[in-house]
Amino acid sequence: MNIAVFVSGKGSNLEAILASAELKGLCDVSMVCSDKLDCPAFEIAKRYKIPFLSVCESEKDGFVTFNKLHQIFTEKEIGLIVLAGFLKLMPKEFVRAFPNKIINIHPALLPSFGGKGMYGIRVHEAVFRSSAKVSGATVHFVNEIYDEGLIIDQAAVSIEDVESPEEIAQRVLQLEHVLLPSVIVKFAQRKIEIKNNRVYLTKKS
Ligand code: GRF
Repeated sequence: MNIAVFVSGKGSNLEAILASAELKGLCDVSMVCSDKLDCPAFEIAKRYKIPFLSVCESEKDGFVTFNKLHQIFTEKEIGLIVLAGFLKLMPKEFVRAFPNKIINIHPALLPSFGGKGMYGIRVHEAVFRSSAKVSGATVHFVNEIYDEGLIIDQAAVSIEDVESPEEIAQRVLQLEHVLLPSVIVKFAQRKIEIKNNRVYLTKKS
């Protein structure tokens, strides 16, 4: 299965996908996209010789429009679009063109600590200030509202003893690097079902 990964920053989740032994032979990262003209994650794409594009809603020098990207993804037979640290809201026409084929990883246990403006360290600062005892990562389907698509899978970690938001960020990022590739594997193996508006990860081998 061909996948496209959307990034905006460091790309550690992209790296985790590319380094995942489980995904080898099951998935190919055919394209890396960003809302930025340049970002550290593009260096990872270069290292793995993966084509990368800067994308934006309107015509702008150096950027491809989402309309054009839709065409490219169809030609490349992209079966799954993975948002891994992508900070922009996907245009609704683009989301509608790929129903239940766009997933996002969020560094908290949605539906808590999510929504517009909740990204990066801001998420962990809000979790820290709340004195919550657990945090974690969530992979969910992307719809037209930030962080509100159906939850696919989650992983939690105790943060009882943390003394800073940065400590939470570190523990959660480690979870993300395992959770995201595992969801992509299940998607490629068609082990993700939606029934009565809930997502089930089938155990069938
Ligand atoms: C991760 O914490 C992810 O949950 C959030 O943005 C961060 C991306 O980090 N959406 P990276 O660019 O994958 O290192």
